[in-house]
Amino acid sequence: MSTVYASLGMSLDGFVAGPNARPGNPLGDGGLRIHEWVEDVETWRERQSLAGGTGGDPDDAIVAENFERAGAYVMGRRMFAEGELGWPDPPPFRAPVLVLTHTPREPWVRQGGTTFHFVTEGPEAALALAREAAGEKDVQVSGGAETVREFLAAGLLDELEIHLAPVVLGSGTRLFDGVSPDLRLEPVRVIGSPKVTHVRYRVR
Ligand SMILES: NC(=O)c1ccc[n+]([C@@H]2O[C@H](COP(=O)([O-])OP(=O)(O)OC[C@H]3O[C@@H](n4cnc5c(N)ncnc54)[C@H](OP(=O)(O)O)[C@@H]3O)[C@@H](O)[C@H]2O)c1
Repeated sequence: MSTVYASLGMSLDGFVAGPNARPGNPLGDGGLRIHEWVEDVETWRERQSLAGGTGGDPDDAIVAENFERAGAYVMGRRMFAEGELGWPDPPPFRAPVLVLTHTPREPWVRQGGTTFHFVTEGPEAALALAREAAGEKDVQVSGGAETVREFLAAGLLDELEIHLAPVVLGSGTRLFDGVSPDLRLEPVRVIGSPKVTHVRYRVR
């Protein structure tokens, strides 16, 4: 069965977005600093329809691995609403994206294999659809914080990968707010670069 993994950038003080995040202010005030490391990554730029960048280093390898293993994505509606305005067409996913929401909406078909499907029946239903779409590949839970917490609480996540940025935001959206102290994570891989530290945990 495919692995279900979350992959998020986080500040050293535990935030995945700064304050006042909303469509038009993606990742909130100062939150784009969490993703500064990826701006020059060739594979990421290619997925954003941007030329140039640096390839062949650990950061590029991590981004490439993340895209290659994902056969489908799950995300929360607030993450989607921010990205809806900014993602290029084709969007970076190039695979089905299941968006968790309480508001039904028709699928949104984009170029390059990305279709956003809106799922109102909760995380288990979204994951079942994502698994079916992913086939032999893995399912990425892309965020945001609420969505990852729901997957953790429901025991649906196999792996959590944090891209730990050396920035302090001070306020915003914390990933682990309200997560049970019973959560047990086993570090299984650490890859460092001058800009960011990628830590992969197995969820026990
Ligand atoms: N640092 C990173 O790598 C990273 C990654 C992803 C996102 N982010 C940031 O994280 C922020 C968003 O995170 P967030 O925690 O605020 O929100 P989120 O997890 O993106 O979305 C929450 C929304 O998902 C829907 N939802 C969640 N559980 C549901 C359920 N069981 N049934 C139906 N709908 C459900 C609801 O949508 P409705 O309100 O439509 O019902 C809810 O308001 C954004 O600022 C984004 O930029 C950062």
